[in-house]
Amino acid sequence: MSSTFRPDLLAGKHAFFTGGSSGINLGIAERFAEAGARVSINGRKLDKIEAAVAGIVVKGGAARGAPADVRDYAALEAAIQGSVDAYGPIDILVSGAAGNFPAPAIGISSNGFKSVMDIDVLGTFHAARIAFEHLRQPGASVIHISAPQAYLPMAFQAHVCAAKAGVDMLTRVLAMEWGAAGIRVNSLTPGPIEGTEGMARLAPGEAARAHVVRNIPLGRLGQRDDIANFALFLCSDAASFVTGAVLVCDGGQSLMGGGALVGGLMGG
Ligand code: COA
Repeated sequence: MSSTFRPDLLAGKHAFFTGGSSGINLGIAERFAEAGARVSINGRKLDKIEAAVAGIVVKGGAARGAPADVRDYAALEAAIQGSVDAYGPIDILVSGAAGNFPAPAIGISSNGFKSVMDIDVLGTFHAARIAFEHLRQPGASVIHISAPQAYLPMAFQAHVCAAKAGVDMLTRVLAMEWGAAGIRVNSLTPGPIEGTEGMARLAPGEAARAHVVRNIPLGRLGQRDDIANFALFLCSDAASFVTGAVLVCDGGQSLMGGGALVGGLMGG
Protein backbone atom coordinates (compact mmCIF):
# COMPACT_ATOMS: atom_id res chain seq x y z
CA MET A 1 0.00 0.00 0.00
CA SER A 2 1.33 3.39 -0.98
CA SER A 3 2.12 5.76 1.89
CA THR A 4 0.47 8.60 -0.04
CA PHE A 5 -2.84 6.76 -0.10
CA ARG A 6 -5.62 8.12 2.12
CA PRO A 7 -7.79 5.20 3.22
CA ASP A 8 -11.05 7.17 3.39
CA LEU A 9 -10.66 8.90 0.03
CA LEU A 10 -13.75 7.27 -1.49
CA ALA A 11 -15.73 6.64 1.70
CA GLY A 12 -19.43 6.21 0.97
CA LYS A 13 -19.02 6.38 -2.81
CA HIS A 14 -20.47 3.88 -5.25
CA ALA A 15 -18.18 2.75 -8.06
CA PHE A 16 -19.55 0.61 -10.91
CA PHE A 17 -17.11 -1.37 -13.05
CA THR A 18 -17.83 -3.01 -16.39
CA GLY A 19 -15.45 -5.85 -17.07
CA GLY A 20 -14.40 -5.58 -13.46
CA SER A 21 -13.86 -9.22 -12.55
CA SER A 22 -10.21 -9.55 -13.58
CA GLY A 23 -6.98 -7.86 -14.55
CA ILE A 24 -6.43 -4.12 -14.47
CA ASN A 25 -10.08 -3.34 -13.80
CA LEU A 26 -10.25 -5.65 -10.80
CA GLY A 27 -7.06 -4.03 -9.51
CA ILE A 28 -8.79 -0.65 -9.65
CA ALA A 29 -11.93 -2.04 -7.99
CA GLU A 30 -9.86 -3.54 -5.16
CA ARG A 31 -8.03 -0.27 -4.59
CA PHE A 32 -11.29 1.71 -4.64
CA ALA A 33 -12.81 -0.69 -2.10
CA GLU A 34 -9.76 -0.19 0.12
CA ALA A 35 -10.40 3.54 -0.17
CA GLY A 36 -13.91 3.05 1.20
CA ALA A 37 -16.01 2.79 -1.98
CA ARG A 38 -18.83 0.29 -2.39
CA VAL A 39 -18.03 -1.43 -5.65
CA SER A 40 -20.32 -3.11 -8.18
CA ILE A 41 -18.52 -5.65 -10.35
CA ASN A 42 -19.96 -6.29 -13.79
CA GLY A 43 -18.70 -9.06 -16.05
CA ARG A 44 -19.92 -11.88 -18.25
CA LYS A 45 -18.79 -14.86 -16.19
CA LEU A 46 -20.51 -15.51 -12.88
CA ASP A 47 -17.70 -17.56 -11.36
CA LYS A 48 -15.15 -14.80 -12.02
CA ILE A 49 -17.50 -12.15 -10.62
CA GLU A 50 -18.14 -14.18 -7.48
CA ALA A 51 -14.40 -14.71 -6.93
CA ALA A 52 -13.72 -11.00 -7.41
CA VAL A 53 -16.48 -9.98 -5.00
CA ALA A 54 -15.37 -12.55 -2.40
CA GLY A 55 -11.77 -11.30 -2.63
CA ILE A 56 -12.90 -7.78 -1.79
CA VAL A 57 -15.38 -8.76 0.92
CA VAL A 58 -12.86 -10.98 2.73
CA LYS A 59 -10.63 -7.92 3.12
CA GLY A 60 -13.50 -5.98 4.69
CA GLY A 61 -14.64 -4.15 1.54
CA ALA A 62 -18.17 -3.73 0.22
CA ALA A 63 -18.79 -5.35 -3.16
CA ARG A 64 -21.58 -6.93 -5.15
CA GLY A 65 -21.84 -8.66 -8.51
CA ALA A 66 -23.70 -7.14 -11.46
CA PRO A 67 -23.51 -9.75 -14.23
CA ALA A 68 -24.39 -8.76 -17.81
CA ASP A 69 -22.83 -8.73 -21.26
CA VAL A 70 -22.16 -5.03 -22.00
CA ARG A 71 -23.34 -5.66 -25.58
CA ASP A 72 -26.82 -6.44 -24.26
CA TYR A 73 -28.41 -3.09 -23.40
CA ALA A 74 -31.37 -4.48 -21.46
CA ALA A 75 -29.19 -6.84 -19.41
CA LEU A 76 -26.73 -4.08 -18.55
CA GLU A 77 -29.60 -1.74 -17.69
CA ALA A 78 -30.94 -4.32 -15.22
CA ALA A 79 -27.48 -4.84 -13.73
CA ILE A 80 -26.94 -1.12 -13.22
CA GLN A 81 -30.44 -0.63 -11.79
CA GLY A 82 -29.84 -3.48 -9.32
CA SER A 83 -26.60 -1.87 -8.18
CA VAL A 84 -28.21 1.54 -7.77
CA ASP A 85 -31.01 -0.04 -5.74
CA ALA A 86 -28.41 -1.62 -3.45
CA TYR A 87 -25.70 1.06 -3.28
CA GLY A 88 -27.36 4.32 -4.39
CA PRO A 89 -26.34 6.80 -7.10
CA ILE A 90 -23.14 6.07 -8.99
CA ASP A 91 -20.21 8.34 -8.15
CA ILE A 92 -17.68 6.58 -10.36
CA LEU A 93 -18.22 4.57 -13.54
CA VAL A 94 -15.22 2.63 -14.83
CA SER A 95 -15.84 1.11 -18.26
CA GLY A 96 -13.20 -1.52 -18.73
CA ALA A 97 -14.94 -4.33 -20.61
CA ALA A 98 -12.82 -5.08 -23.68
CA GLY A 99 -12.03 -7.81 -26.15
CA ASN A 100 -8.77 -8.55 -27.90
CA PHE A 101 -6.95 -11.21 -29.85
CA PRO A 102 -3.88 -10.65 -32.01
CA ALA A 103 -4.50 -11.44 -35.68
CA PRO A 104 -3.55 -9.98 -39.05
CA ALA A 105 -6.40 -8.02 -40.64
CA ILE A 106 -7.04 -10.74 -43.20
CA GLY A 107 -7.29 -13.26 -40.35
CA ILE A 108 -10.11 -11.37 -38.64
CA SER A 109 -13.60 -12.40 -39.70
CA SER A 110 -16.44 -9.90 -39.94
CA ASN A 111 -17.83 -11.31 -36.72
CA GLY A 112 -14.45 -11.17 -34.99
CA PHE A 113 -14.07 -7.47 -35.86
CA LYS A 114 -17.67 -6.80 -34.83
CA SER A 115 -17.21 -8.60 -31.50
CA VAL A 116 -14.38 -6.29 -30.46
CA MET A 117 -16.16 -3.16 -31.73
CA ASP A 118 -19.33 -4.20 -29.92
CA ILE A 119 -17.63 -4.95 -26.60
CA ASP A 120 -15.36 -1.90 -26.62
CA VAL A 121 -17.28 0.89 -28.37
CA LEU A 122 -20.92 -0.12 -28.06
CA GLY A 123 -20.39 -1.53 -24.56
CA THR A 124 -18.73 1.67 -23.38
CA PHE A 125 -21.54 3.73 -24.91
CA HIS A 126 -24.17 1.46 -23.34
CA ALA A 127 -22.65 1.82 -19.87
CA ALA A 128 -22.40 5.61 -20.11
CA ARG A 129 -25.84 5.99 -21.70
CA ILE A 130 -27.54 3.84 -19.06
CA ALA A 131 -25.56 5.20 -16.12
CA PHE A 132 -26.15 8.87 -16.95
CA GLU A 133 -29.44 9.21 -15.07
CA HIS A 134 -27.93 7.36 -12.10
CA LEU A 135 -24.69 9.35 -11.90
CA ARG A 136 -24.27 11.75 -9.01
CA GLN A 137 -24.61 15.21 -10.49
CA PRO A 138 -22.49 17.20 -9.98
CA GLY A 139 -19.40 15.29 -8.96
CA ALA A 140 -19.45 11.99 -10.84
CA SER A 141 -16.35 10.73 -12.61
CA VAL A 142 -16.45 8.41 -15.62
CA ILE A 143 -13.27 6.56 -16.62
CA HIS A 144 -12.99 4.70 -19.91
CA ILE A 145 -10.15 2.20 -19.94
CA SER A 146 -8.48 2.72 -23.30
CA ALA A 147 -5.27 1.50 -24.92
CA PRO A 148 -2.35 2.96 -26.89
CA GLN A 149 -3.87 1.27 -29.96
CA ALA A 150 -6.25 4.28 -30.00
CA TYR A 151 -3.51 6.55 -31.31
CA LEU A 152 -0.68 4.20 -32.37
CA PRO A 153 -1.27 1.93 -35.35
CA MET A 154 -0.26 -1.60 -34.40
CA ALA A 155 -0.01 -4.60 -36.71
CA PHE A 156 -2.31 -7.51 -35.73
CA GLN A 157 -4.58 -5.05 -33.92
CA ALA A 158 -6.79 -3.53 -36.66
CA HIS A 159 -9.98 -4.21 -34.71
CA VAL A 160 -8.61 -2.94 -31.38
CA CYS A 161 -7.06 0.18 -32.97
CA ALA A 162 -10.42 1.06 -34.53
CA ALA A 163 -12.33 0.28 -31.33
CA LYS A 164 -10.12 2.14 -28.86
CA ALA A 165 -9.95 5.21 -31.13
CA GLY A 166 -13.76 5.14 -30.95
CA VAL A 167 -13.66 4.88 -27.17
CA ASP A 168 -11.37 7.91 -26.85
CA MET A 169 -13.58 9.99 -29.12
CA LEU A 170 -16.60 8.95 -27.08
CA THR A 171 -14.72 10.20 -24.01
CA ARG A 172 -14.22 13.62 -25.57
CA VAL A 173 -17.79 14.04 -26.78
CA LEU A 174 -19.33 12.93 -23.48
CA ALA A 175 -16.98 15.30 -21.61
CA MET A 176 -18.32 18.17 -23.73
CA GLU A 177 -21.96 17.20 -23.34
CA TRP A 178 -21.87 16.28 -19.65
CA GLY A 179 -19.56 19.00 -18.33
CA ALA A 180 -22.52 21.26 -17.57
CA ALA A 181 -23.95 18.54 -15.33
CA GLY A 182 -20.68 18.42 -13.40
CA ILE A 183 -19.73 14.98 -14.73
CA ARG A 184 -16.11 14.43 -15.73
CA VAL A 185 -15.27 11.87 -18.41
CA ASN A 186 -11.70 10.73 -19.11
CA SER A 187 -9.84 7.91 -20.80
CA LEU A 188 -7.15 6.09 -18.85
CA THR A 189 -4.63 4.40 -21.12
CA PRO A 190 -2.59 1.69 -19.39
CA GLY A 191 0.64 0.38 -20.83
CA PRO A 192 1.68 -3.28 -20.53
CA ILE A 193 0.77 -4.55 -17.08
CA GLU A 194 2.35 -7.61 -15.49
CA GLY A 195 0.18 -10.69 -15.17
CA THR A 196 -2.80 -9.50 -17.23
CA GLU A 197 -4.67 -11.34 -19.98
CA GLY A 198 -3.75 -8.52 -22.37
CA MET A 199 -0.02 -9.08 -21.76
CA ALA A 200 -0.43 -12.83 -22.11
CA ARG A 201 -2.16 -12.36 -25.47
CA LEU A 202 0.03 -9.61 -26.91
CA ALA A 203 3.40 -10.76 -25.56
CA PRO A 204 3.24 -14.53 -25.15
CA GLY A 205 6.51 -16.08 -24.03
CA GLU A 206 9.77 -14.80 -22.60
CA ALA A 207 11.21 -13.36 -25.85
CA ALA A 208 8.12 -11.25 -26.53
CA ARG A 209 8.05 -10.09 -22.92
CA ALA A 210 11.73 -9.09 -23.06
CA HIS A 211 11.04 -7.16 -26.28
CA VAL A 212 8.27 -5.24 -24.55
CA VAL A 213 10.38 -4.42 -21.48
CA ARG A 214 13.32 -3.28 -23.68
CA ASN A 215 10.95 -0.75 -25.22
CA ILE A 216 9.71 0.83 -22.02
CA PRO A 217 11.75 3.90 -21.02
CA LEU A 218 11.19 3.22 -17.33
CA GLY A 219 12.57 -0.28 -17.88
CA ARG A 220 9.83 -2.38 -16.33
CA LEU A 221 6.32 -3.63 -16.88
CA GLY A 222 3.57 -1.81 -15.03
CA GLN A 223 1.90 -3.28 -11.98
CA ARG A 224 -1.85 -3.29 -11.40
CA ASP A 225 -1.28 -0.83 -8.54
CA ASP A 226 0.29 1.69 -10.95
CA ILE A 227 -3.00 1.91 -12.80
CA ALA A 228 -5.19 1.67 -9.69
CA ASN A 229 -3.41 4.61 -8.07
CA PHE A 230 -3.70 6.66 -11.25
CA ALA A 231 -7.43 5.89 -11.42
CA LEU A 232 -7.78 6.88 -7.79
CA PHE A 233 -6.27 10.27 -8.58
CA LEU A 234 -8.53 10.65 -11.60
CA CYS A 235 -11.75 10.29 -9.64
CA SER A 236 -10.59 12.29 -6.64
CA ASP A 237 -10.99 16.01 -6.06
CA ALA A 238 -7.31 16.38 -6.99
CA ALA A 239 -8.44 15.95 -10.62
CA SER A 240 -11.55 18.13 -10.37
CA PHE A 241 -10.61 20.23 -13.44
CA VAL A 242 -9.63 17.28 -15.64
CA THR A 243 -12.15 16.15 -18.24
CA GLY A 244 -12.09 14.96 -21.85
CA ALA A 245 -8.47 13.90 -21.43
CA VAL A 246 -6.69 10.76 -22.57
CA LEU A 247 -4.28 10.08 -19.73
CA VAL A 248 -1.47 7.64 -20.39
CA CYS A 249 0.15 5.52 -17.68
CA ASP A 250 2.67 3.32 -19.51
CA GLY A 251 6.22 3.97 -18.30
CA GLY A 252 6.76 5.95 -21.52
CA GLN A 253 6.14 2.98 -23.81
CA SER A 254 3.97 4.79 -26.33
CA LEU A 255 6.84 7.21 -27.02
CA MET A 256 8.53 4.25 -28.71
CA GLY A 257 5.85 3.61 -31.36
CA GLY A 258 3.33 0.89 -32.02
CA GLY A 259 5.95 -1.81 -32.70
CA ALA A 260 7.11 -1.62 -29.09
CA LEU A 261 4.25 -3.79 -27.90
CA VAL A 262 3.29 -6.12 -30.72
CA GLY A 263 6.79 -6.15 -32.21
CA GLY A 264 7.35 -9.23 -30.09
CA LEU A 265 4.67 -11.03 -32.07
CA MET A 266 6.34 -10.05 -35.33
CA GLY A 267 9.70 -11.39 -34.22
CA GLY A 268 10.98 -7.84 -33.56
N1 COA B 1 -8.20 -15.05 -34.06
C1 COA B 1 -9.12 -14.77 -35.01
N2 COA B 1 -10.47 -14.69 -34.74
C2 COA B 1 -10.86 -14.87 -33.46
C3 COA B 1 -9.96 -15.14 -32.41
C4 COA B 1 -8.56 -15.23 -32.76
N3 COA B 1 -7.61 -15.50 -31.84
N4 COA B 1 -10.66 -15.25 -31.26
C5 COA B 1 -11.96 -15.05 -31.56
N5 COA B 1 -12.08 -14.82 -32.89
C6 COA B 1 -13.31 -14.63 -33.63
C7 COA B 1 -14.14 -15.89 -33.61
O1 COA B 1 -13.68 -16.83 -34.57
C8 COA B 1 -15.53 -15.35 -33.92
O2 COA B 1 -15.67 -15.08 -35.29
P1 COA B 1 -16.46 -16.13 -36.29
O3 COA B 1 -17.86 -16.21 -35.75
O4 COA B 1 -16.38 -15.47 -37.63
O5 COA B 1 -15.72 -17.42 -36.21
C9 COA B 1 -15.52 -13.99 -33.26
O6 COA B 1 -14.13 -13.64 -33.03
C10 COA B 1 -16.24 -13.98 -31.95
O7 COA B 1 -15.65 -14.93 -31.12
P2 COA B 1 -16.45 -15.61 -29.91
O8 COA B 1 -15.46 -16.25 -29.00
O9 COA B 1 -17.56 -16.42 -30.44
O10 COA B 1 -17.17 -14.34 -29.28
P3 COA B 1 -17.03 -13.64 -27.94
O11 COA B 1 -17.85 -12.44 -28.14
O12 COA B 1 -17.34 -14.50 -26.78
O13 COA B 1 -15.46 -13.28 -27.86
C11 COA B 1 -13.53 -11.97 -28.05
C12 COA B 1 -14.96 -12.03 -27.68
C13 COA B 1 -13.45 -12.39 -29.50
C14 COA B 1 -13.02 -10.58 -27.94
C15 COA B 1 -12.67 -12.90 -27.20
O14 COA B 1 -11.36 -12.89 -27.64
C16 COA B 1 -12.66 -12.57 -25.72
O15 COA B 1 -13.67 -12.61 -25.05
N6 COA B 1 -11.50 -12.27 -25.16
C17 COA B 1 -11.35 -12.07 -23.71
C18 COA B 1 -11.29 -10.66 -23.33
C19 COA B 1 -9.94 -10.09 -23.55
O16 COA B 1 -9.26 -10.37 -24.51
N7 COA B 1 -9.51 -9.23 -22.62
C20 COA B 1 -8.27 -8.57 -22.71
C21 COA B 1 -8.44 -7.22 -23.34
S1 COA B 1 -6.86 -6.44 -23.57
